[in-house]
Amino acid sequence: MVVSLTFEKAASSAPGKVILFGEHFVVYDKPAIVSAINLRARVEAWRYGRSGVWIEYRMLVDHPSTKAVEYILEKTGFMSGIRLKILSKIPASVGLGSSASVSVASAASASLISLGRIDRELVEKAALEGEKIVHINPSGIDTTIAICGGTGIYRRSRGFNPIDIPLKKILIIDTGKTRRTGEMVNRVREFSEKNKDRFREILSREEELINDVLDAFKSLDLEKLGKLMLVNQSLLREVGVSSLEIEEAIKLALDAGAYGAKLTGAGGGGCIICLADEDKIEKISKSISNKFKVYLTELSAEGLREEKI
Ligand code: PMV
Repeated sequence: MVVSLTFEKAASSAPGKVILFGEHFVVYDKPAIVSAINLRARVEAWRYGRSGVWIEYRMLVDHPSTKAVEYILEKTGFMSGIRLKILSKIPASVGLGSSASVSVASAASASLISLGRIDRELVEKAALEGEKIVHINPSGIDTTIAICGGTGIYRRSRGFNPIDIPLKKILIIDTGKTRRTGEMVNRVREFSEKNKDRFREILSREEELINDVLDAFKSLDLEKLGKLMLVNQSLLREVGVSSLEIEEAIKLALDAGAYGAKLTGAGGGGCIICLADEDKIEKISKSISNKFKVYLTELSAEGLREEKI
């Protein structure tokens, strides 16, 4: 008989992400390019005397972590309760995948406690249950990148395919306006229902664009990548997920010398990413930082990992 050791306490962490190209259209099974960033969520977990899932001594029924951990407890037949402590450096509700990272790290810590190891497949399914609260119809891109890390092409029906990209860092500009991913996903669905033919054209344009992006990565053509970002942004604007803040932040970045910029994540506020030569990044940051919060983040960060506790 194989006896696996389970833990009284455990911790794990998972990265946030930026979608470089293809958000929203990925919900409709088009490819997107996504990269893990070096902002992480850490979740500590303890076996708990009371049954159920507790976040800092409270039972939060509609929390993604609660749903994700409940799924783990149910599938592993774990009888005790679990208490969680969430420590996230990823700003919430601004497009950087904070809820997915928190769900993934919560599920992983619960997996360590109930099974004595991180069962990645189980964690992925559990985290997706958590994401349904936030995304309504999640494509799975956020939970996948939070587990796998690195950079890759994600397609709903084909999963994640890692790729090497020439970009090491990206400038993220946070408009400071938070919004709900589910509402933005619904907004695009409404657009798709009212404009069926046009939406089909947009989806095939997006697919071509991803191929052009892969070519531009190969030839290290930042200028072309910048232009493709602007094309992607125009498609996102057309389906209704840009906002005044996003457009203002993009204009400031372009005026300061960026090759291109676009919203990242669900839009409607949240963050934009901006592509520029390394020697221009400081100038761009300065000219934007009196209006918006700016982060220079590393791309292709490590995925889900167990942490010391
Ligand atoms: O804004 P975020 O971090 O929740 O990202 C949403 C990404 C979408 O493509 C808009 C939705 C999804 O499930 O893929």
